[in-house]
Amino acid sequence: MCLPDRTNKHNFSKISLAIKDKLGVAITIRAYQAEDYRRLIDMYDKFEPKGIAMGLPHFDKKLRHNWIDCIVKSFFNTIAIYQNKIIGHSAIDIFRNKSSPEYMIFLDQDFRNRGIGTGQTMIIKKICKEFGCKQIWVAVTCHSMLGIKVFKKSGFKFTGTIGPEREMVLELKR
Ligand SMILES: CC(C)(COP(=O)(O)OP(=O)(O)OC[C@H]1O[C@@H](n2cnc3c(N)ncnc32)[C@H](O)[C@@H]1OP(=O)(O)O)[C@@H](O)C(=O)NCCC(=O)NCCS
Repeated sequence: MCLPDRTNKHNFSKISLAIKDKLGVAITIRAYQAEDYRRLIDMYDKFEPKGIAMGLPHFDKKLRHNWIDCIVKSFFNTIAIYQNKIIGHSAIDIFRNKSSPEYMIFLDQDFRNRGIGTGQTMIIKKICKEFGCKQIWVAVTCHSMLGIKVFKKSGFKFTGTIGPEREMVLELKR
């Protein structure tokens, strides 16, 4: 896997943090590695409801797997793990757009609303700050109450046109 800092000033590939969710369950959040691929596919195959966030993850298996391939190849990825199972995935497009990367996050339906998405987002925010990003943006559907709450709590603000799909931006540098 290519890593976000090609100059090795930071070593994001070694990121690994143990957190407790709101139920007191131990969750590990760490950088994605190539050997996690099968388990990540498994998470998205079991993910419900499909298409929840801007049509993602795709309903169609082939499209879904192609999308996962594209994300793991081109974004910097972190995963959340519970008992050897991947239950969360977040990705940030800092290879192609360091100044203003896109962010996305997906949690297994059994692990939502337990504080894990907030934890993963705070880690991504820290990585982007250290990496020197100016801002981070995320696309969110307006009925995603949990997503909007997590992004607002992390400092994201609505921007762009008002509609069923909104963009939120987190300014890291002025
Ligand atoms: C969006 C998502 C990543 C959020 O992660 P999460 O772990 O479920 O969220 P958290 O538990 O960290 O935080 C949820 C917050 O919403 C609050 N909340 C719960 N129900 C709510 C409601 N109906 N209205 C408003 N806020 C609500 C919770 O109280 C919590 O805030 P708090 O910690 O300040 O109390 C996750 O739910 C998910 O994967 N959803 C499906 C995919 C998606 O929509 N991704 C986002 C776009 S890329």
